[in-house]
Amino acid sequence: MPGFELWSDEERKEVNEVLETGILMRYGFDGPRKGKWKAKEFEEAICKRFGSKYAQLTSSGTSALTTALAALGIGAGDEVIMPSFTFVASFEAVLSVGAVPVLVDIDETLTLNPDAVRKAITPKTKCAMPVHMCGSMADMDALVSICKEHNLILLEDACQSIGASYKGKHVGTIGHAGTFSFDFVKTITCGEGGAVMTNDKDVYIKCDGYSDHGHDHKGPDRGADLHPFLGYNYRISELHAAVGLAQIRRLDQFLKIQKQNHGQLKNILSQVPEISFRKIPDPAGDSCTFLSWFLPTEELTRAVVNEFKTQNILAGNFYWYDNNWHYIRKWDHLKNSSSLSPLNDSQQEALKKLQSQDLSESDTIMSRCISSSISLLWTEDQLREKGEKMMSVIKKLLHVAQVK
Ligand SMILES: Cc1ncc(COP(=O)(O)O)c(C=O)c1O
Repeated sequence: MPGFELWSDEERKEVNEVLETGILMRYGFDGPRKGKWKAKEFEEAICKRFGSKYAQLTSSGTSALTTALAALGIGAGDEVIMPSFTFVASFEAVLSVGAVPVLVDIDETLTLNPDAVRKAITPKTKCAMPVHMCGSMADMDALVSICKEHNLILLEDACQSIGASYKGKHVGTIGHAGTFSFDFVKTITCGEGGAVMTNDKDVYIKCDGYSDHGHDHKGPDRGADLHPFLGYNYRISELHAAVGLAQIRRLDQFLKIQKQNHGQLKNILSQVPEISFRKIPDPAGDSCTFLSWFLPTEELTRAVVNEFKTQNILAGNFYWYDNNWHYIRKWDHLKNSSSLSPLNDSQQEALKKLQSQDLSESDTIMSRCISSSISLLWTEDQLREKGEKMMSVIKKLLHVAQVK
């Protein structure tokens, strides 16, 4: 994901303004900071760009999720339904507030299968957490309606899909709260950073306090702040926020190039009738960070991945099924509750169940899926060459499979 690909003087200018004042912290020091409030400005820009009433910056996407869960009142023993295909941070955040991650099947949207969500609901379910993976979105109409029907909180992990939308609303702003990540490989980056977005003032005030030791932030003297509840330090620094502020101004430019390159690669791969593409609930809202596509069988997909490797064209093409970060199959540390400090009983019990849970529907999808990341730096010639090389490998192996 491309924020870091198009580095510019705009990021340097914003960072230098912070370095000139020397005030690297987002709170306090009102005099010496000479009117520079980069984190506040970035939060305002997030609200404006994505149509959220409130935004709270944090130190990472992971801490944004943790902050949102806490602010939404999700904790010990509460079950949070999430997809089997996500990033480890989604369940880490749930575990960190004492809650129980319940992982369920995805469908060809590569996000939560609404039927699987319905089946997983128990009296302990408190929240459904769709993860808008790889630049695109979950079926939000279905999920909103399930959450309304069962009185569940809807928390969107939109860390990978900055700039994607669903039926005119930006992902991350549809549920009770949503999160972005601005880590180094996201659509826009701060180096490290995250944000919680919400339209609920009470949730926002809780995020604001929780991410800064519970401070109420009511006056200019931090030492005099009250602590209405417990919190932790998930603050972003002014340096990181300064980078993000420059990047958000460039987001539309990034998205435009991303969409063009995505369209061209898709046109090339569409020439192979055996390739099918990820289902996108609202195609107009795809941020186009990745082009995710399927082959008919796992065997063929593995052969293609191996041949991409041999021909040195695998870089940027992700076979998540074998990947340690993103798919449940390789999360032995989670299934074995390999935690440095003891997990609570309900967490341990739930994680043990994952060892034998049937996620064959997800396996069938993920074992045939390759996601090609879309670069902003490709020239037209490079893109064509890349697509044609990929296509020729796929055609060759399809032919071999047919001859067999
Ligand atoms: C789906 C998802 N959620 C959460 C995160 C966590 O973000 P961060 O790396 O900023 O902690 C990521 C990061 O890759 C992610 O992909």
